[in-house]
Amino acid sequence: MDLIGMDIQLPVSQPIDAVSYKAPAKLNLFLHVVGRRADGYHLLESVFQLVDLCDEIRVFGAKDGQIRRPVGAWGVAEANDLVTKAALLLKTTVHDNSLGARIEVVKRIPMGAGLGGGSSDAACTLIALNQLWGLNFSVNELAALGLKLGADVPFFVHGQTAWVEGIGEILRPVTTPKLWFALIYPGVAVSTPKIFQSPELTRNSRKLTIGGSLTWDSSIGFVGRNDLQAVAITLEPAIGEALNRLTAFAPARMTGSGACVFAAFSDPLKAKAAVDAVLSEAPQSWRGWVVRSVDRTIRLNCDGV
Ligand code: C5P
Repeated sequence: MDLIGMDIQLPVSQPIDAVSYKAPAKLNLFLHVVGRRADGYHLLESVFQLVDLCDEIRVFGAKDGQIRRPVGAWGVAEANDLVTKAALLLKTTVHDNSLGARIEVVKRIPMGAGLGGGSSDAACTLIALNQLWGLNFSVNELAALGLKLGADVPFFVHGQTAWVEGIGEILRPVTTPKLWFALIYPGVAVSTPKIFQSPELTRNSRKLTIGGSLTWDSSIGFVGRNDLQAVAITLEPAIGEALNRLTAFAPARMTGSGACVFAAFSDPLKAKAAVDAVLSEAPQSWRGWVVRSVDRTIRLNCDGV
């Protein structure tokens, strides 16, 4: 099993005032829109695959009542950052005004890319503060709180590659092949609400039955499709261009609501060759990575406390 970092099974008696965790990204190996709720949210069917491209979150607990985020993603105001919202949500839930935190986010996962970076950071913050503030919420309770912040947050709280239904809150662990992914960011960020609001969006995909594991074939890729892809390409043609270029090496697909696209390989050198070839002829704003599938997030406390 591939793990990110080390477990954080600390003795309850050991006092800690800071933790530093890795917050992994995800890929949607397929994403079907199978309906819509009365409140406008879409019912999905997807496999969320954790990968080893990570942000790093440092959280310091305090008793001064202040929630601060002095280090964060460029262009994201402190108050708008999902990590700040996660801390405030946890604090208001327990009605304790004395609780404070300083949260530092080192961004490596691109934003507006369909990789769930913001949701993963928020999940990490919930887990860190649950521990630092000694709140003892269970993982399920934190996941339910996380759903108020965003549909993908419960998945990252559970931290396990999963079959996902509902709007993102129904999760079942699923076994996926150990693979390497060529991941391309085509220099554009996509607005998730804009994609979901499109009149052109397919909202009635037929449901799949895959059981407890997902198969992959190097010539056809993964089962299904990403129902958000066609709308995303219309809004941002660079996504279509990235897909065309990557498809020359392996079956390629968009993740989430875009803009990143990916293709899977059993050989990391082939994944790297694909990324290098795509980037060699791409505009400067494009970026690329080779990332690896991960089964579970095991949270690393980088400070060793
Ligand atoms: O929950 P999150 O903040 O990630 O979603 C952003 C927006 O995307 C929502 O406000 C909603 O418009 C849309 N969305 C949706 N169905 C989902 C997830 C998101 O319609 N399952």
